[in-house]
Amino acid sequence: MYRTHTCGELRISDVNKQVTLAGWVQRSRKMGGMTFVDLRDRYGITQLVFNEEVNAALCEQANKLGREYVIQVEGTVNERFSKNANIPTGDIEICVSELKVLNSALTPPFTIEDNTDGGDDIRMKYRYLDLRRQAVRKNLELRHKMTIEVRKYLDEQGFIEVETPVLVGSTPEGARDFVVPSRMNPGQFYALPQSPQTLKQLLMVSGFDRYFQIAKCFRDEDLRADRQPEFTQIDCEMSFVEQDDVINLFEGMAKYLFKVIRGVELDGPFLRMPWAEAMKYYGSDKPDLRFGMKFVELMDILKGHGFSVFDNAAYIGGICAEGAAHYTRKQLDALTEYVKRPQIGAKGMVYARVEADGNVKSSVDKFYTQEVLQQMKEAFGAKPGDLILILSGDDAMKTRKQLCELRLEMGNQLGLRDKNKFALLWVVDFPMFEWSDEENRLMAMHHPFTHPKDEDIPLLDTDPAAVRADAYDMVCNGIEVGGGSIRIHDAQLQAKMFEILGFTPERAQEQFGFLMNAFKYGAPPHGGLAYGLDRWVSIFAGLDSIRDCIAFPKNNSGRDVMLDAPGYLDQKQLDELCLKVDIPQE
Ligand code: AMO
Repeated sequence: MYRTHTCGELRISDVNKQVTLAGWVQRSRKMGGMTFVDLRDRYGITQLVFNEEVNAALCEQANKLGREYVIQVEGTVNERFSKNANIPTGDIEICVSELKVLNSALTPPFTIEDNTDGGDDIRMKYRYLDLRRQAVRKNLELRHKMTIEVRKYLDEQGFIEVETPVLVGSTPEGARDFVVPSRMNPGQFYALPQSPQTLKQLLMVSGFDRYFQIAKCFRDEDLRADRQPEFTQIDCEMSFVEQDDVINLFEGMAKYLFKVIRGVELDGPFLRMPWAEAMKYYGSDKPDLRFGMKFVELMDILKGHGFSVFDNAAYIGGICAEGAAHYTRKQLDALTEYVKRPQIGAKGMVYARVEADGNVKSSVDKFYTQEVLQQMKEAFGAKPGDLILILSGDDAMKTRKQLCELRLEMGNQLGLRDKNKFALLWVVDFPMFEWSDEENRLMAMHHPFTHPKDEDIPLLDTDPAAVRADAYDMVCNGIEVGGGSIRIHDAQLQAKMFEILGFTPERAQEQFGFLMNAFKYGAPPHGGLAYGLDRWVSIFAGLDSIRDCIAFPKNNSGRDVMLDAPGYLDQKQLDELCLKVDIPQE
């Protein structure tokens, strides 16, 4: 046994105990004849004291310890003279009688403390050192606790955890696949699963009526703060269920997690917002409902008064930022620049302040009478001191998305996106298909296995773009934390879906024959959902990026800078796989 106690557990009640601790030297300070060392392990920090007068040789040994040396000490627990209220062990210290260096260490490239001096890149390269920092480690501890609670909840609800393979076949209709060459089948490739979607449906055909898996998923797509190429889903599927059954069960799970992890009781059923409403009032299928600023459409009020930008627009809409009329011209110009950035793409922004006397002063006053501006004020329910911001454009959906960015930015600027406040909702009634300009055809908005709403099935033949799906997403604070649907379990309907998506019967059979054939052998009605585990953990931990709750994440270029992956293969490996690499010259 290297230790009798950990560095986080000794308290004033342990005074006079003989203890052995082992851990890393966080820092040491020499003060006169005394040397103080902060010893760290996973559980905390304990101060060690070496007194030159008591044992000069031992003190000399302590003075030679470098940062991150691994040591073992024996000593007595003493009450500390100057207490440290910031750490749980701050009332005590260890008067060391024996010290053993278990391993020396090079000086780490950054300080391993909560407020480290290391930048992002260096900490990613030495991730194993970064993980020694409590700030990072506690995110992984939270992640562990969440997966345990998820398993507990689902086990109690009769779900069984089944592992599905990671080497599967490539399927179209999603993000790009990561592929793996097969040595035994030259020229052929496996794909890593983007999710276990079809496999979990096959498990329903097999009669496992409540399945779950904490599943690794892989998608070769552009990265963002809430996207990693390799991420984890809490993937679930159930048989003999309707949309409400799935929603209720997983809403229960979200409430359970909030209670056990954050001590937050979320009452009542979550709001269910139709997709069309989310787009109309928030310009997003994942509205952040921690704050208001719902969109107000102004076509009726502002069109036709000689302001050509609005007169020619297909959409005019705005938001009202309560109490923000104090925004200066400079701040408003900065906001205009913000929405004009290429990533957002608005042409400009119109603003109006409601003054103390109730009059409205706008940036386009010369085109509008006070009467019209008052009508606009009424439409927002705006009060003196409020600021109205308006965007317009020739494509309603695009303009709403731009207004969504403006709304979120105002939410940030006004401090309305509090990380300790949680606004959850279901977005429901998604369209079944969305038009892809790139592919020049309809694509499945969720995936091609999603069941259309029964009442919309006749529209599949006449107006497929109007068909709504039995699909639902859960949104928390503007982040999509989960999504799912009721599935098609009828081979014919599934074949029709592929036809609408532009598959020939042969190609549908080639790509998805395994599923359509399985449906011919007695597939039960089924549906399910997948939660994004990384996203949940980062919300619970108050993180800005899911990267911080993943032990060994990839950077924004999809690289693991610690392992230096991806990398090139040896010619021998390439030959074995019958692969030739042909990188186009720039
Ligand atoms: P979907 O693609 O919506 O559905 O994914 C489900 C949830 O997984 C999370 N997620 C991600 N998290 C981190 N990085 C990513 N790149 C990433 N992509 C998705 C999100 C999302 O809500 N098979 C279906 C689920 C089903 O229908 O049952 C699916 O994968 O939180």
